[in-house]
Amino acid sequence: MTSTSGLSQRAKMAGGQPISHLMHQALANPNLISLAAGFVDPATLPVELAGEAVAALLADPTEARRALQYGTNSGLAPLREALLERFHTADGTTPAETGLTLDNLVVTAGSNELLHLLADTLFDPGDIVLCGAPEYFVYLGVLGNLDVRAIGVAIDDQGMIPEALEAELARLDAAGELSRVKAIYITSYYSNPSTVTLSAARRPRIVALAERYSRAHRIYVIDDAAYRELRYAGDDTPSLRAYDSSGETVIVAQTFSKCFSPGIRVGYGILPRALVEPVLNQKGNIDFGAPNFTQHLIWNVIERGQLDAHVERLRASYRSKLAAMLDALEEHLGDIPGVSWRRPTGGLYVWLELPEGLAAGPASKLFGAAVAAGVLYVPGEYCFPREGVPVRRNSIRLSFGVQNEPGIARGIAALGRAIRDVLS
Ligand SMILES: Cc1ncc(COP(=O)(O)O)c(C=O)c1O
Repeated sequence: MTSTSGLSQRAKMAGGQPISHLMHQALANPNLISLAAGFVDPATLPVELAGEAVAALLADPTEARRALQYGTNSGLAPLREALLERFHTADGTTPAETGLTLDNLVVTAGSNELLHLLADTLFDPGDIVLCGAPEYFVYLGVLGNLDVRAIGVAIDDQGMIPEALEAELARLDAAGELSRVKAIYITSYYSNPSTVTLSAARRPRIVALAERYSRAHRIYVIDDAAYRELRYAGDDTPSLRAYDSSGETVIVAQTFSKCFSPGIRVGYGILPRALVEPVLNQKGNIDFGAPNFTQHLIWNVIERGQLDAHVERLRASYRSKLAAMLDALEEHLGDIPGVSWRRPTGGLYVWLELPEGLAAGPASKLFGAAVAAGVLYVPGEYCFPREGVPVRRNSIRLSFGVQNEPGIARGIAALGRAIRDVLS
């Protein structure tokens, strides 16, 4: 009998996720400069703001008891009200235009809970989700764990290419597999990992394609907007929901993890009406309400008008860390033929492409050389769906979230040495 013989299929499939390998490397080599973790900057975490909010909450016994009690399954009503208002303001839309009410909004324990709930609500084994290639690897793990097929669609500097999406939908249709397609998933702002924002021009085309191919059932568009607030240059772009005139196709996943604190685990979904009850039913089986105390906490911060100023401070800090990473890349990798990277205008990442044939995967010479030189990165191959666009093994995701500027410079210098070493 093996030690795993009693485990479910899903538990067995959950093993071997990329994140375990990276954590293992980080723990085994504590002196490594990690440009791998997608964590936010510890230096800009809102210690004072959170302290003030907690003190204010606990100072009023009635309020404190409310916050320390179970909440409701869909989340704290005044918080949802504030979130809905902020969403409309950001998108430049009105409730009359979108048809959205409080009932469309569900608060979750981080947006990852929402992604899980949606997966449980929508997908059966063998179903298909179309994703950008590359895409958020944790989500690819969620799909893999449910035996859902992720198929990669080509992207460029404007995000998912509508023509490529259409070709994939047509191909699946011709193969008799359209009825298995349940969703299109896009990290639509400063994507993790590609750093690309889906352009405003492409957004209505993606929604229209989902609608056009929704024959056997609706194909949802999941707009993962985790990095929307982390914008360092250029204008904001309306969410995909702003282009969904029926309000029945687009699901928006949002979170306070990147723009405030991941430790509070507050995320939320803006759902088409038909999905609200099924998602809440799933949620009722799991936690029947996201952590209530931290919902009160973030509501307090919003109510006191402190969130926007905090986001401005974050932007200033990340803007200069991103510049530090781009400068260091120029200095240490700029003259290596075949090495290129996008210049993001937001988010926490830089996506690097290496010369053709130079593998960067976890078992590659380069990965070993990088660890030996003192730096950890995320192999880009983790971020490619198993089907569709071929995996680019010569790619790397770097994050400037956690390290300070000298750490970023040292990490990139080490990566430059490792690449030269392996190429020589
Ligand atoms: C694209 C994307 N979506 C969702 C999440 C999950 O965030 P949380 O569950 O903390 O809200 C992350 C976290 O890194 C992310 O990068």
